[in-house]
Amino acid sequence: MSYRWIYIEDISDYEGEKVEVRGWLYNKRHSGKLYFLLVRDGTDIVQCVVFQPEVEEEVFEAAGRLTQESSVIVRGTVRKDTRAPHVGYEITVEDIELVQLADGYPIGPKEHGIDFLLQHRHLWLRSLRQHAILRIRHEVTSAIRDFFNSHGFILIDEPIFTPSACEGTTTLFETEHFGNTAYLSQSGQLYNEAACMSFGKVYCFGPTFRAEKSKTRRHLTEFWMVEPEIAYCDLNGIIDLAEEFVEYVVQRVVEKRRKELERLERDISKLEKVKRPFPRISYSEAVEILKEKGMRFDWGEDFGGDEETAISERFDKPVIVHRYPLETKAFYMKTDPNDPRLALCMDMLAPEGYGEIIGGGQREDDLDTLTEKIKKHNLPMEAFEWYLDLRRYGSVPHGGFGLGLERTVGWLCGIRHIREAIPFPRVMDRKIFP
Ligand code: 4AD
Ligand code: MG
Repeated sequence: MSYRWIYIEDISDYEGEKVEVRGWLYNKRHSGKLYFLLVRDGTDIVQCVVFQPEVEEEVFEAAGRLTQESSVIVRGTVRKDTRAPHVGYEITVEDIELVQLADGYPIGPKEHGIDFLLQHRHLWLRSLRQHAILRIRHEVTSAIRDFFNSHGFILIDEPIFTPSACEGTTTLFETEHFGNTAYLSQSGQLYNEAACMSFGKVYCFGPTFRAEKSKTRRHLTEFWMVEPEIAYCDLNGIIDLAEEFVEYVVQRVVEKRRKELERLERDISKLEKVKRPFPRISYSEAVEILKEKGMRFDWGEDFGGDEETAISERFDKPVIVHRYPLETKAFYMKTDPNDPRLALCMDMLAPEGYGEIIGGGQREDDLDTLTEKIKKHNLPMEAFEWYLDLRRYGSVPHGGFGLGLERTVGWLCGIRHIREAIPFPRVMDRKIFP
């Protein structure tokens, strides 16, 4: 008898056929002469029914011995049954091949504390919820690449070892590079600026690091960021791009990952509303919203998580907040020619209290002004000489932004803490393990 090895996600193509599923036991139920095995293979879960009178005695016994997360190959015939859990098909089992018997899998169906789960992240990845989140992350990553690749952007992979800070020295990880001090990249932006003067439109997409002393649900010390950068582009052009990009990514997930969103019990109607145009307000208008809500806030301060949540509650789409006070922002921001207190910058705040997902804006392109800004921020001039060259040789107005992958995935999945949006999270208050 020959059985065809299939993946569960394709099972509807094999109704009535003899198939083999290679996977792991997710769960099982027993009732008299029946075992209902829930087997997962990475693509989905299928119910496999073992009926005592119809299988060899040793097959029925093997079903009895199977424990949670044992690796197993199940062979049988595909039957359509709309009541069957997960895929609407089940397998009538004819043979079971035990690959390895798992002894005492530590994560059971009962509730576990978050510490325990994080300590067992290497196994926790197998749970239905984590599986759904990381498949959505995969879709977001694919959508990001497809968007930029189809809009004329060239991918430039930026380094992780860097000679200087990009986003402020207080969140910089220091390391050693053969006798010299080096830092882990906080952002690929400065290199993107060099590359966009060669290619016009570029993006980078990779891990970035922040020694952020924030234990909030929005902060990781290692996270992924995608950063486009465009030559001959002003703040409005950057905002338009951010809007088109976020709409594309969100609608792609809604279209392609509905099953995973449903598994996470996400309110999909809220994501369906994420269509252009998005509201655009200035920092000063955002401060007015906080005042109307009775929050204590002084013009000139930066927004924290609470302020971001309060502002975004006004809208059912992502909101763009532009022109923050220069003092709250990084050294490279261009000063607003209409108001020297302000930077030509923008943040995008996600709805439903998920906070800032994008930060970006127009860059200072004048050599003397940029030199002054580097001094004012107490940054070591030598480390930025190469960066200043970009203003010496063919400087043009330009800009870009960075979107945090985990914050975006966290929002789309509707999860509370972004540590679940990355396979192996790194946070300030946990030792690195696994
Ligand atoms: O606003 P940020 O710091 O901007 C930059 O790094 C710019 N250089 C990007 C650019 O213009 N090319 O970070 C951008 C985004 C934030 O909006 C947020 O989504 C995410 O990166 N982010 C974090 N995500 C998780 N944990 C952290 N500690 C994060 N810090 C920033
Ligand atoms: Mg920011």
